[in-house]
Amino acid sequence: MNNIRINRAAFTGSAIFHIHSFDHHVAEDLHIPADSTLKEKYEALIPQLESLINGEPDLIANMANMAAALKEAFGFFWVGFYRVEGEQLVLGPFQGPVACTRISYGKGVCGTAWKEKRTLLVPDVDQFPGHIACSSLSRSEIVIPLISAGEVSALLDIDSDQLDTFSAVDAFYLEKITSLLKF
Ligand code: SME
Repeated sequence: MNNIRINRAAFTGSAIFHIHSFDHHVAEDLHIPADSTLKEKYEALIPQLESLINGEPDLIANMANMAAALKEAFGFFWVGFYRVEGEQLVLGPFQGPVACTRISYGKGVCGTAWKEKRTLLVPDVDQFPGHIACSSLSRSEIVIPLISAGEVSALLDIDSDQLDTFSAVDAFYLEKITSLLKF
C-alpha cells in the first residue's frame, strides 16, 4: 500500500496503531471552506462524497457516510435515510437524535414525498398537515425521494431546529447528492 501513516497512541498500558491510507476508499477528513456560500459548500462537498462512495457497492455504508458528511458539513439537526420496505418506510442510517422507526405510505412529510414522488420543502413543520414530530425541536424540513426505475426506494430526510432553513439551492444539490447512491 502507498501513502501509509502510522500513529502510535498509548492506551491503558498497551499500544494502539491507527493506520490511515490515502487511497480513495479509506476514511478521509472532509474539507469544507468555512467562509463560503451555501452553493460553494455543496460544490466542495460533492466531489468528496463521490470519492467516499466510488468503489463501495454497499448501499447502507454509503448512506451512513453521506448522512455523516452532511451533518458535519452543515451541522443539520437531523439527517438520515428511510428505506421503502413494503408499505412502510423503515429508518436507515442517520445522524442526530433517535427518530421514528416506521412511517406509513402517505403519512407525514416523508410518506407524502414518497406518495407524490417529489422533493418537499417544509419551511414550518407546524403548518404541514400530518407532520410527524420525531423530535419536538424540529421546526423545518426537507425530504428528497430516491427514485429508481420509476419507484421510490428510499428518502433522504433533513430536519432543522430553525424555521425556514431550506431553499431551492438545498433541494437542487441534495437531489444531485442522493443521485450518487446506486440501487
Ligand atoms: N418529520 C418526518 C418524520 C421523520 S423525522 O423528522 C426524522 C415526517 O413528518 O415524515
